[in-house]
Amino acid sequence: MVAEIAVLGLVLLAIGLVFFSTLLTGASPLPTSPASRETMLAALPSRIEGPVYELGSGWGGLAVALAQRYPDQPVRAFEVSLLPWAFAKARRLFGGPPNLEFRFGDFHCADLTDAALVACYLTPPAMAKLKPKLEAELKPGALVLCNTFAVRGWQPVAVATAPDAYRSQIYLYKVGG
Ligand SMILES: C[S@@+](CC[C@H](N)C(=O)[O-])C[C@H]1O[C@@H](n2cnc3c(N)ncnc32)[C@H](O)[C@@H]1O
Repeated sequence: MVAEIAVLGLVLLAIGLVFFSTLLTGASPLPTSPASRETMLAALPSRIEGPVYELGSGWGGLAVALAQRYPDQPVRAFEVSLLPWAFAKARRLFGGPPNLEFRFGDFHCADLTDAALVACYLTPPAMAKLKPKLEAELKPGALVLCNTFAVRGWQPVAVATAPDAYRSQIYLYKVGG
């Protein structure tokens, strides 16, 4: 009985943590679907020169795929929700890849000036809030890859539709491109 109450308490705590950070950021840790992930990777060039940033990395699936895609580049993934971040961190600890780092915190505090690629799957308000930061910090030639929600007012260099249930739109932008 005590064990059951403890397990129930832990489950409720986990749900509460995810719910609280979803309220704070407006974005739940919904992962990019495998089909969208494949479509995102297919939109990218085979080589890039410089670090990759994932803004809001959730459970880590997309960050792992990006790190495997670019094994010679550092991939820095930021997540502010404790449970998904801890899951992703444990996943990285036990399975790599070595060029991937999960950082706990608000990506608005990250310095993106050296980014070759920024990837995100957020919400329309979060994208609107992120846009001035991207415009202020990204160097010419940097790529921005978005799942579902576009950077409003920017012209994508490529748009693709993922073969998933939502027909998710994938947008690729090139700064100054
Ligand atoms: C829809 S999920 C996407 C997860 C992952 N990128 C993927 O595609 O599978 C969005 C994530 O962004 C995180 N997030 C939203 N705003 C954030 C912020 N300012 N700093 C760090 N993480 C944030 C949320 O906690 C959530 O886990």
